[in-house]
Amino acid sequence: MSTASYPVTILGTGSSVPTRVVTNEELSKSVETSHEWIISRTGIRERRVASQDETTSEMGARASSAAIAASGIAASDIDAVIACTMTADMAFPSAACLIQEKLGLPKRTAFDIQAACSGFIYGLEVAASLIQAGVHRHVLLIGSERLSSIIDWSDRATCVLFGDGAGAVVLGRGRSHDSGVIGVRTGADGSDAQLLYMPGGGSNVPASVESVTSRQHFLRMNGREVFKHAVLVMEDISRELLREHGVMTHEIDLVIPHQANFRIIDTLAERLKIPIEKFFVNLDRYGNTSAASIPLAIDEAVRSDRLRPGHLVLFVAFGAGLTWGAALVRWPGREHK
Ligand code: ACO
Repeated sequence: MSTASYPVTILGTGSSVPTRVVTNEELSKSVETSHEWIISRTGIRERRVASQDETTSEMGARASSAAIAASGIAASDIDAVIACTMTADMAFPSAACLIQEKLGLPKRTAFDIQAACSGFIYGLEVAASLIQAGVHRHVLLIGSERLSSIIDWSDRATCVLFGDGAGAVVLGRGRSHDSGVIGVRTGADGSDAQLLYMPGGGSNVPASVESVTSRQHFLRMNGREVFKHAVLVMEDISRELLREHGVMTHEIDLVIPHQANFRIIDTLAERLKIPIEKFFVNLDRYGNTSAASIPLAIDEAVRSDRLRPGHLVLFVAFGAGLTWGAALVRWPGREHK
């Protein structure tokens, strides 16, 4: 293995969401809730829910096709596929292998990363390290989730929060260490695992009649505790990363946070003293799409011209584990790719 430290940049982005929109009004017909409650507590208006054909690997493949097309490289130049997901099509093989096959990508490295809603930041750390070290030249990094498959649609405390979707980026060697991926930091604390988890479906509670009737194959969450931890860990990791790279908060042009709840984002903005206008928010249309939320938001920010060449952007996430992470990226222009 080479000991080189190559600069890493983002060459292209893409996203894909299911066509079916489920509004708050529609949900309020099946559980005891209201548009007013959901919008005031979360900021979510609607979410996408996948059809039978819109699997995690299918949405991931569609987002990947768009990212590869935008990157200017050929699909045959992809050296590794990393899919970040907690709702892969099946326990194994990985979503990454299924996406590689769907797109006819080179028969090289393909694997999944499971860090719940922090998955994309974890994936970015791994992908960037592989490129920096000279192991791979081009990595396709995907966040794709079909959370509708693990949501208890009769539980009003969780079913209003989540949605399905996918985002992808193609990472490659950059021209300079001042552009592209500047730094990534991640963290985890397994002592809070019980705040957000799904008991069934793993090797501890395999599927059985009992596990199904006792509703163990659905996500469980202590929303209030997750909220408190989310704000604290996202502030801490953001500050640590900015300090490490000598960046002041006023130098940040755009923050793309994990899209879980507008109140969490608003509180984070206050704590970091970064104006809320600098935060990219699309959770009103998609809800929380876990590992897909940041790459989906990145792609929308690029396409809507909110994220432009030269911008200094902070990605920050938290999720089950608990896990968390942040990344600092100088958005590349054509000349930096
Ligand atoms: N509609 C109406 N009432 C509701 C609903 C609903 N959809 N959901 C809960 N309530 C009720 C509760 O039953 C409770 O009623 P009670 O006082 O009679 O007992 C009341 O509203 C208040 O409930 P809380 O849970 O205290 O409400 P809170 O203001 O904390 O908001 C929420 C709940 C939105 C879940 C919030 O805690 C939150 O956003 N937490 C973070 C969740 C999150 O981001 N999770 C994703 C983590 S990322 C990952 O890895 C998947």
